[in-house]
Amino acid sequence: WSCLAVCAIAGSEDLGIDVVSGGEILTAIKAGVSAEKIYFHGNNKSVAELELAISKNCRIIADNWLELEHIATIASNTDKNVPVMIRLTPGIECHTHEYIRTGHLDSKFGFDPNQLDEVFTWLSKQTQITCIGVHAHIGSQIFEQQPHQDLAGVMVEWYKLALSHGLPISEINVGGGLGIKYTEADDPQSIDAWVKNVATALKVACDAHGVAYPRVLSEPGRSLIGSSCVTAYTVGGNKTVPGIRTYISIDGGMSDNPRPITYQSQYRAMIANKMSAPMTETVTIAGKHCESGDILIKDAQIAATVPGDILVVPATGAYNYSMSSNYNRITRPAAVLVDRGEANIIIQRENYDDLLRFDRLPERLVK
Ligand SMILES: Cc1ncc(COP(=O)(O)O)c(C=O)c1O
Repeated sequence: WSCLAVCAIAGSEDLGIDVVSGGEILTAIKAGVSAEKIYFHGNNKSVAELELAISKNCRIIADNWLELEHIATIASNTDKNVPVMIRLTPGIECHTHEYIRTGHLDSKFGFDPNQLDEVFTWLSKQTQITCIGVHAHIGSQIFEQQPHQDLAGVMVEWYKLALSHGLPISEINVGGGLGIKYTEADDPQSIDAWVKNVATALKVACDAHGVAYPRVLSEPGRSLIGSSCVTAYTVGGNKTVPGIRTYISIDGGMSDNPRPITYQSQYRAMIANKMSAPMTETVTIAGKHCESGDILIKDAQIAATVPGDILVVPATGAYNYSMSSNYNRITRPAAVLVDRGEANIIIQRENYDDLLRFDRLPERLVK
């Protein structure tokens, strides 16, 4: 969730920040995150974005040949030496409760491992690019241990290959993927267990390959921010389709949380002003947008509601505000940071002027 306050909190905890655009780079910098802790990702970074990242001394996770060539050209016009990590697709694909290993992974991100020798050879000839590490991200909301154990083994092989090319490599970045609890069915590993699993697998692989232990980075996006946030809606009207279901409408939906309609994400809900009331109702929580598919939760178990009740959906910190839109010209809600009895607005509620601020009416359309 890229915004000033979240970046500032991450920075104050001495965490790095992954960014995927010029906008996210500037947000992190403006929030006070030091540039060498900003890692620039993406499969189609523009030249302007790369120039910005290099001018600010961010680290770059290089994704493809074109990008490496751009970095070399930009660096040659400066006196900078650009630190890069090489992103690869390890052929390990994970979805929740699903895990496959293939020789090659059909992904838009990163180099294919069969390009690695050529990439490392090219990097070993560069004078203004330093390859500091290798990177992979195998997926999100992963509950199993095996995928990251396999990943560790593959990454140490890449690492060893880079060392054999004489590169001054010292980091392995295992990406993110640690799942969180959205519903009762979710059973994520603890952060401690995940770290121990990854670190042990890396250590075993390094010992087996006879390489010195690298500095290890990870990118736990969702597991750091997801569970820390809730979204609060006001309950509106309802509709019962006899024998089928009751819909309860809320004053938001797919514009503040596009995850259910995009990839069928599951959530649970509770009524904030009736937390002690028995959860007797099975209802479908409907968003207010002009899409039949704008359903936040199907068959939610909640207390009986009346219009005006506050329905709260937990675990909305990751990918929610970041993916929000103004679909149907609905204004985005405010975001409030609550910490030890103190509450601060960290993103102001949008108003109608905000919605219209970039609209332009050509003269010939003015009545
Ligand atoms: C490169 C990279 N690293 C880390 C993450 C974070 O993944 P998660 O939030 O599932 O831990 C993502 C998510 O898209 C990603 O693309």
